[in-house]
Amino acid sequence: MPLHGQNVLLTGASMGIGERIARSLAKEGSNLILLARSEDKLLSLKDQLLQQHPGIKVVYRAADVGSHEAVDAVIQSVIEEMGHIDILINNASGARSRQCAATAQSPLQITNVPRSNIQAGLALGAPNAFYDLKIGDIQTMISTNINGPMFVTHSVLNRSMVSRNSGTILNITSVTGLEVPPFPGEAVYHSSKAAQEAFTNALRNELVGTDIKVLALRPGCVATNFHSLRVGHDKKMYDEFFEGYDPLVAEDVAGAAVYMLNQPLNISIKALDMVASAQRSLTIFDRKWNERHGN
Ligand SMILES: NC(=O)c1ccc[n+]([C@@H]2O[C@H](COP(=O)([O-])OP(=O)(O)OC[C@H]3O[C@@H](n4cnc5c(N)ncnc54)[C@H](OP(=O)(O)O)[C@@H]3O)[C@@H](O)[C@H]2O)c1
Repeated sequence: MPLHGQNVLLTGASMGIGERIARSLAKEGSNLILLARSEDKLLSLKDQLLQQHPGIKVVYRAADVGSHEAVDAVIQSVIEEMGHIDILINNASGARSRQCAATAQSPLQITNVPRSNIQAGLALGAPNAFYDLKIGDIQTMISTNINGPMFVTHSVLNRSMVSRNSGTILNITSVTGLEVPPFPGEAVYHSSKAAQEAFTNALRNELVGTDIKVLALRPGCVATNFHSLRVGHDKKMYDEFFEGYDPLVAEDVAGAAVYMLNQPLNISIKALDMVASAQRSLTIFDRKWNERHGN
């Protein structure tokens, strides 16, 4: 469906993949509702988008997706302002650097990361085993990655999509939702991404009889800021992590999201796995890729 003029609610819009999706959708002429916790970043992004694309509407709301009250109040207020929501993109994740801890760290790399660099906010406990994780870290991951998309989706369905009998819900999951990470410390993150996959599939079935599509986009390793954070901004470790190949960048994932959302009503790209060709699975990387391709 043409994205021009569509109202899109995007969570995790303040940085990384979400920010890039916002920029790509703005180019398509979509109206944007930007949601994350960092009000300053959202305001700055809103100003940039409106300057570059004066024909679109952009609003933002600062909220924690893990708080149902906050999320529902925000969605009520944006619907009052924008009228309705055509597209919901559940992209926010509390795993600022832990996704690719899940998707790409070899056991060697995990051991090499100083413990002090992978505390809460980064790997939230990795490389500890599950039983060593702090309960607070487990709760944060569950709140953001499981409760969050469910609360936002529940509110958007009730306040806009069901009564209109139309809409698209795109969940940004991860390749780790399907492949079990073979190293410690990722049980909760992996489980939360697997839960997003299950939620996506079950919801798609429940909404039979409506024109509401439910889709999953599963990135592999993407070079967002958290990779630098993951290794405590250690350039040597960062370079070793991507040695021999170029990972995806956020623009790549944004392009895939636009492709999925641009399909006509009668077509659903139900799920799309997107990795750098050198990333063959969660742990197998072609470190000779760039050498073979003259990069
Ligand atoms: N990067 C990868 O390699 C990779 C791989 C596979 C899947 N993914 C998935 O792609 C999505 C985006 O990842 P990313 O790499 O762009 O991560 P990122 O750069 O860390 O961005 C995460 C975004 O989520 C927001 N956020 C975090 N906790 C939140 C909360 N409780 N409530 C509201 N917003 C919250 C953050 O903004 P605030 O801090 O301002 O709230 C930020 O905008 C995630 O779902 C992730 O699991 C990423």
